[in-house]
Amino acid sequence: MKNYKKYFLIFDKNADLHYLDSGATTLKPKMVLEKMMEYYTEYSANIHRGLYPISEKATEEYENTRQKVADFIGAKYPGEIVFTSGTTDSLNLAAAGWAKRNLKAGDEVMVTIAEHHSNFVPWQQLALKNNFKFVVSGEVTKKTKLLAINHVSNVLGTVTPIKSIIKKAREISPEICVVVDGAQAVGHMPVDMVDLDADFYAFSGHKMYGPTGVGVLYGKAKRWLEMEPTRFGGGMIKTVSTTESTWADGPEKFEAGTPPIAEVIGLGATIDFIKEIGRENIVKHEKELTDYLIEKINKIEWLKIMGLGISSGRLGVVSMYSEAPGMGTSHDMADILGREFNVCVRAGHHCAMPLHTQFGVETGTVRVSLGIYNTKEDVDELIKGLEKVWMTFIKK
Ligand SMILES: Cc1ncc(COP(=O)(O)O)c(C=O)c1O
Repeated sequence: MKNYKKYFLIFDKNADLHYLDSGATTLKPKMVLEKMMEYYTEYSANIHRGLYPISEKATEEYENTRQKVADFIGAKYPGEIVFTSGTTDSLNLAAAGWAKRNLKAGDEVMVTIAEHHSNFVPWQQLALKNNFKFVVSGEVTKKTKLLAINHVSNVLGTVTPIKSIIKKAREISPEICVVVDGAQAVGHMPVDMVDLDADFYAFSGHKMYGPTGVGVLYGKAKRWLEMEPTRFGGGMIKTVSTTESTWADGPEKFEAGTPPIAEVIGLGATIDFIKEIGRENIVKHEKELTDYLIEKINKIEWLKIMGLGISSGRLGVVSMYSEAPGMGTSHDMADILGREFNVCVRAGHHCAMPLHTQFGVETGTVRVSLGIYNTKEDVDELIKGLEKVWMTFIKK
């Protein structure tokens, strides 16, 4: 199995780091950091404004990233890509900018029980405030005007068959707007907007080996035309008078103010990094490790995997819990793993409380989530740490 740690500087100073929390945020490769440094040291100007070379260079790099993102996710036009601060911001923009304007009282907004709070709460709140009907994991009907669904669950790791779901939903409710939360998908599997046919698709740079503070909302060109900006200020206007204002035509209309320039440029380098490694190699590496992880966890009698304990149809995200009498909480487990083994995992509800309630695991789970830098040794260290957890709580 190939070792990709050499691309990540963090391991130079933390050789024994077992980072199994990529679902929260991935580590950043050297290429991305260098690109951001390049911006700050060589052409650190604002974009779209200056008529001097370093501003033009910054603008070119920023807009090149828009094109790179469009190509990377199979969008038809770069104008369908709007930069945001992350998935949460993207989903809130779709809710406040599109749904608030285009739905009417009584329309149904549907989410699934397996959504991250970022793709649950904005729709719930929107529905409450506008008298839309908020439906959780129901049947799509003619009344369903919006479906918000994840591409990969950040708790179960399952890959949702969104292409067939979208196709079916459109047969039942032709005008339905489908918003996909791709936060856990884009860095780990190929995605193609034309093929999936989603209306909106949201993701974060920092979960795909890129910088924090930048995300993307893809929207079909016609959906952007139906949308209102939700934030106002510099950069997004065409004209302003003392009585009214008009908006820029392109994606800038939704990017008010100075955007996260270095982060967007860094996101471009992230795409270069993923291409250099090869998307098929990422899929293969993470699949092999997921198989290994699931096989090992399934051998531990006192641990249960939330959802299906199989590796097909899922990416490298596994949440587990224990019902053994005397066992500590998910936080106790993660604490031992972190402090004693330098194994970094996530404990709690992972921003998916309704799903934990549905499974009856109110106290939370321990989540392991893989990235390209992980190796079988990281999984072995996790298993060693879990043995210590067992010895601590049960065999006192
Ligand atoms: C499935 C999913 N959606 C949305 C988010 C929110 O992403 P961000 O915090 O980058 O906005 C996360 C983050 O964990 C996630 O896993």
